[in-house]
Amino acid sequence: MAQLIEVRVPDIGDYKDVEVIEVAVREGDEVQVDAGLITLETEKATMDVPSTVAGIVRQVKVQQGGRVSQGDLIAVIEAEAAAEAAPESAAKPGPASAPADGAAPAAALAAAAAAPASRTEGDARPAAPNSVPASTSMPGPPAATVVGPAGGTRSHASPSIRRFARELGVDLGSVAGSGVKGRITEQDVKAHVKRLLTAQAAPQAQAAALPRVPEVDFAAFGPVERKPLSRIQKIAGPRLHASWVNVPHVTQFDSADITEMEAARGRMKAEAATRGIKLTPLAFVMRACVQALQAFPRFCAALDAEAGELVFRKYIHIGFAADTPGGLVVPVVRDADRKDIFGLASELAALSEKARAGKLSAAEMQGGCFTISSLGGIGGTAFTPIINAPEVAILGVSRASQQPVYVDGAFVPRLMLPLSLSYDHRVIDGAEAARFTSFLCHAMADVAGLLGSAS
Ligand code: COA
Repeated sequence: MAQLIEVRVPDIGDYKDVEVIEVAVREGDEVQVDAGLITLETEKATMDVPSTVAGIVRQVKVQQGGRVSQGDLIAVIEAEAAAEAAPESAAKPGPASAPADGAAPAAALAAAAAAPASRTEGDARPAAPNSVPASTSMPGPPAATVVGPAGGTRSHASPSIRRFARELGVDLGSVAGSGVKGRITEQDVKAHVKRLLTAQAAPQAQAAALPRVPEVDFAAFGPVERKPLSRIQKIAGPRLHASWVNVPHVTQFDSADITEMEAARGRMKAEAATRGIKLTPLAFVMRACVQALQAFPRFCAALDAEAGELVFRKYIHIGFAADTPGGLVVPVVRDADRKDIFGLASELAALSEKARAGKLSAAEMQGGCFTISSLGGIGGTAFTPIINAPEVAILGVSRASQQPVYVDGAFVPRLMLPLSLSYDHRVIDGAEAARFTSFLCHAMADVAGLLGSAS
């Protein structure tokens, strides 16, 4: 049987004339026990005042911006005694519930002793205020979901939590409550937002991830043997991969006429031998690179993409790829611009030997500005070296061979050295790369220039 019940402001401590900052119900609304009716704000806290009964709001006696004290009438609610019988799990639209007189469960009675909920505690659990008449006071907390005004399902949360959710644009209908009897707390709203953000980020991360190479059971096709990667391969692999996927590579090919250079090297071999130096073409190539890097400092720079700046190094340390039993390493010839051909050859030999013996220190592989990868002693006509990032260019050198070159109206045999310059296209334009390799070719053809004193 329906009964009109006055819901009043409960004991709110010493506060008087407290501002009503939100009125959550209108006349005609259905409310559940503990559904928020109004929110009060003192200078210290925000408090939700929930309904003590379930039923239909017949009169609202307060308005937003108004002021109330303990005992002031908030609303008159027509309680439906029969609704209390509705099962808690009923999440579907249906009749509003109202507590039967004296039917509140024990747990609810305990909750009823609490003070109004305070947002400052980050907890929207309901408090049971005083209610009138006494026979219907202190009802138990309701089921988590109640019927909303529009007839759809509506989540159970205090006005302050509803406002909090509104500010974040959260639909409380999709938030699971972890509070008493499924009531939605501030933490629930925050966790929901976090989940949404994570879910949104996941496909983006997935899109950014590289597609995987299919895994194959090789043993299904014949006998196999597994061997671990070397320590160097384990370190170098990810670095090469990082460069490959992060740096837009372009490779510029050219070939240098090293006929005169090789003739000069032949003439110098005896002198080098007396100094205990093995003079290979690589020292000449490195000398030519020094000159090219001096003429094109951008090839010696590094990119600071975040700052949108190039870092120009005022030194020229050149690395060279060395093939060792343990894998590929890149020792660095420091201050290559201050060394002549013999000085470079001597350091190349010493570092190569150390590399093969696995005795290079970490410092001997650091600080490079540019790298040379020479496969000339092995073979090949061209290749596309991977930039040793954060450097911006690498010169690949392949095997020199005699080629017919058209000179003064006739083909003549010349010793041609294939060059493959890979460069970071974010830093270096194609035209600049072509100028760089042309410069290198001229430098290698100009033996006097190569043999001139180092800077
Ligand atoms: N064309 C023709 N012959 C060449 C040549 C070239 N471009 N470069 C070297 N040679 C010759 C040398 O003159 C030497 O012959 P010689 O003894 O008759 O004079 C022979 O090849 C072997 O030279 P090498 O001992 O390899 O000395 P180097 O100074 O040219 O190279 C290293 C030294 C460390 C670079 C080299 O031993 C090495 O490890 N190369 C592999 C680098 C690599 O793996 N790169 C790939 C990275 S992905």
